[in-house]
Amino acid sequence: MKKNRWMAGLALCCMALLTSAPTQAQELVNGQLWMDTEGNHINAHGGNIIQYGDTYYWYGENRPYRGFTTEAGVGVYSSKDLKTWKNEGIALAVSEEAGHDIERGCIMERPKVLYNAKTQKFVMLFHLELKGRGYEAARVAFAESDSPTGPFRFIRSTRVNAGIWPFNMDKKAQQAAQQTDARKWKEWWTLAWRKEVEKGMYLWRDFAGGQMSRDMTVFIDDDGKAYHITSSQENLTLLVSELTDDFLDFTGKYNMVAPGGQNEAPCLMKHDGTYWLICSGCTGWAPNEARMFSAPSIWGPWKQLPSPFVGTATGYRNMPANKTFGAQGTYIFPMNGKPTFMADIWNDRHLSQSLHLWLPIEFDSEGVPVINWATTPF
Ligand code: DGJ
Repeated sequence: MKKNRWMAGLALCCMALLTSAPTQAQELVNGQLWMDTEGNHINAHGGNIIQYGDTYYWYGENRPYRGFTTEAGVGVYSSKDLKTWKNEGIALAVSEEAGHDIERGCIMERPKVLYNAKTQKFVMLFHLELKGRGYEAARVAFAESDSPTGPFRFIRSTRVNAGIWPFNMDKKAQQAAQQTDARKWKEWWTLAWRKEVEKGMYLWRDFAGGQMSRDMTVFIDDDGKAYHITSSQENLTLLVSELTDDFLDFTGKYNMVAPGGQNEAPCLMKHDGTYWLICSGCTGWAPNEARMFSAPSIWGPWKQLPSPFVGTATGYRNMPANKTFGAQGTYIFPMNGKPTFMADIWNDRHLSQSLHLWLPIEFDSEGVPVINWATTPF
């Protein structure tokens, strides 16, 4: 009898230990589960972090365990030390209204939040796909909130820069684009097709209705101007577009970067006056080799450099540097003052279980970014 009571006590103790939330800051280990203060894996993917006051806010896709559509919305977590994350719930919830742009079952990807010091509002931009239409809508959406944890109010979704030429495309280039005809090209990836893409074949195809916008990030420059950087034109060409002062619209000033280069997952930072863009290739949820571009101005000229991922160490599931250590970038954030590459290790069978990888960005003697594998982000 006494022994039974003792065993029951021990079992209760073990259960309490297993289910209790971490009481002290956890060590974040790249490629392992990262727990929130309730002991659940942090379900915030493809997102970003901002600092507001003495608190960090981490926004990201709240993904279901099964399936690819958005059932809850965009989640938000808060932290004072970048290690201990409290789940603050859903910052932007899906709508229950049939036909609404963000109706439950749509796809919300790569949410990014910026604080607008002028309007004192938090503005969220994200990639939106309409319910039941796969990835064909290719829109950017805007939402706004008075508080960092929301609730964010959905504003609208749209294609980008309808009826506007990239500002650095002269009359001659505009005429050349207008000679192209995307319907003609049944076979992709030929040299002739690639030339047409570079001339702006898909830009022209979507000119009237607006350009596609899928994987995206945002960037605020030192002068407070904000930019939207997106994978457009069938994921072939990046667009950099200036946002209005309230961050809720486009000014119409934009240009194309790396036409035909097939870049996804853009992440942008500025370091010592140079702009650095780190992207992935397009292989769905599977990791691939990162690409890097640099420019003296946000408007270019952008020059491609080798991937910044280096070293012989391997990362998640032994993935090497030329597979981005098993991850795909989402944002660059200064963690404790050091630019840090935030990435997702996608689990396409259970998206909510996708893992996190944060790697500090170093700079070589010429000031070029270099990213090595590290077990922990700090
Ligand atoms: C790769 C993108 O980077 C992700 O955000 C997501 O859209 C997947 N493709 C879908 O296959």
